[in-house]
Amino acid sequence: MCGIVGYSGRNRAAPILIDSLKRLEYRGYDSAGIAVFNSNSIKVYKDKGKIANLENGLPEIAGTVGIGHTRWATHGKPNKINAHPHTSGSIAVVHNGIIENYQELRERLTQSGYVFSSETDTEALAHLINSYYRDDLAEAVVSALKDIRGSFAIAVLCGSELVAARKDSPLVIGIGSGENFIASDIPAILKYTRQIIFLDDLEVASVTPDSVSVFDFERHQIEKKITSIDWDLEAAEKSGYDHFMLKEIHEQPRALHETFAGRISELEGSITLDGLNLTPVQIRDISRISLIACGTSFNAGLLGKYLFEHLSGIHVDVEIASEFRYAHPFPGSLVIAISQSGETADTLAALREVKGSGCRTLAITNVMGSTLTREVDGVIYTRSGPEIGVAATKTFISQLGVLYLLALHFGKSRGMLSSDHIKRMLISLKHIPAQITRINSNKELIKKLAQTLSASNDVFFIGRTFNYPIALEGALKLKEISYIHAEGYAAGELKHGPLALITKNTPVIAIATKGATYDKMVNNIKEVKAREAPVIAIADEKDMEIERYVDAVVRIPATEEILSPILSTVAIQLLSYYTAKERDCPIDQPRNLAKSVTVE
Ligand code: AGP
Repeated sequence: MCGIVGYSGRNRAAPILIDSLKRLEYRGYDSAGIAVFNSNSIKVYKDKGKIANLENGLPEIAGTVGIGHTRWATHGKPNKINAHPHTSGSIAVVHNGIIENYQELRERLTQSGYVFSSETDTEALAHLINSYYRDDLAEAVVSALKDIRGSFAIAVLCGSELVAARKDSPLVIGIGSGENFIASDIPAILKYTRQIIFLDDLEVASVTPDSVSVFDFERHQIEKKITSIDWDLEAAEKSGYDHFMLKEIHEQPRALHETFAGRISELEGSITLDGLNLTPVQIRDISRISLIACGTSFNAGLLGKYLFEHLSGIHVDVEIASEFRYAHPFPGSLVIAISQSGETADTLAALREVKGSGCRTLAITNVMGSTLTREVDGVIYTRSGPEIGVAATKTFISQLGVLYLLALHFGKSRGMLSSDHIKRMLISLKHIPAQITRINSNKELIKKLAQTLSASNDVFFIGRTFNYPIALEGALKLKEISYIHAEGYAAGELKHGPLALITKNTPVIAIATKGATYDKMVNNIKEVKAREAPVIAIADEKDMEIERYVDAVVRIPATEEILSPILSTVAIQLLSYYTAKERDCPIDQPRNLAKSVTVE
């Protein structure tokens, strides 16, 4: 997720833009840049790397209007040419989001004579605005935005004119005295003003030193409330949430929306995975798949096994990366490395063992330019934006999103799925982000249950088929952030040993969403209830039967059985988070753990 800042006032813009960008560094980025209107032209300074490098190379710039950007690469490598701002004629643009139809725009604009220098979707927007510009910047911006599909938060500079607009990506306007600000996130400008206008989707703001006018895409003026922010800086970086982990759990709908953006057409039943680098023939020739990963990414791979085997008929082995390096991959198989950081030493070491074994390799990762991306034949980015909390949440959900798309795409290429089946799945997938939002807005019961769980020493998570990996993920989440011992088990496995540990002091979280294994899950619940264990079920919101058998029910929206893991994940994440909060644990930085484990 990129950082955006803008300034229009009476002070020199450059130092304010740089200072504001530095306040967004916590979000992670790979390049930075500013554009300032300096007497009669726009000066652009941008480069790969840290803001400090950019600052050290800046000349004295007198201009008092400008924009700035920190880039988290989604389209195009992290380098100077792809860094923002992007310019076209007398216009400079910074952008956060994904323009889904940028290729067709690029072709249209190239045919009109525009010359592209970068690989980014944002440059297409800069040329598009320029193509509409007739001395009214706001009008040109609106006309251009009407042509694009996708998500955006933008700031546009032309001469001393400064315009901002948003759809699906956050953007605020800061109201100062004789100066006004634009920012993608409040921390950037909290030092300068606490008076904030929150732009809503499809709103445009024209910003001058003494005025901010907001209007819709039909240029109808909109009266906006000014909110006085009383957060301190740390709270502002978490958008008011107590921890980055909770903020990132709440970012999951948008993360998944970005994961899907430009990749699925539910009307045509088509899936486009840029960077896959596998032809339909190569997909049909895949004899088996090895998924290699660690930790939460390994749990994503476990669900991937069920998805590939169920939807595309390909046999899948899921391997703990630190063990896989001692195994021998089957020649002709596809090895998929899953790693949100792209820097996990165990995963990289396992992948390097595969080199030269005749296997094609693919990475599913969140970080452009990471080591993993340079060592595989194809890369699919999860696009969930920087994740600050050590415990993986939105990156896990986005990994699942990519695995669903891959399994469906493989199933289609191998003639395993009808077009109607694919369309139905894609329509259901598109509903998931909104369903996650519903879970996030219904936390009171989870908070109450967490009070009980927080006093436990041992907790079990159980599930079957698609939700077995989520039982493992729930146990990992609870362990790593609350320090409570937790086990995840295939529900049918309890009676083969672990049941000996079940007593009235071992709460059991049973993932019992409706599907082929529901009745068996009810039997497993009865098994543990017979040992007086307290049972919390994660079940469909319309399931009125389950409450007969358990002590509490965390309800999630109903969806296709195969998609239920995405929603049950959110419930176990919240349960683990609030349990750890009850225990006053350092949730964002758990003891002994690192966000990226770069040692073997
Ligand atoms: C998950 O919450 C943990 N942070 C950890 O298990 C993590 O998933 C594992 O280290 C793998 O990291 P990666 O996805 O960056 O490879």
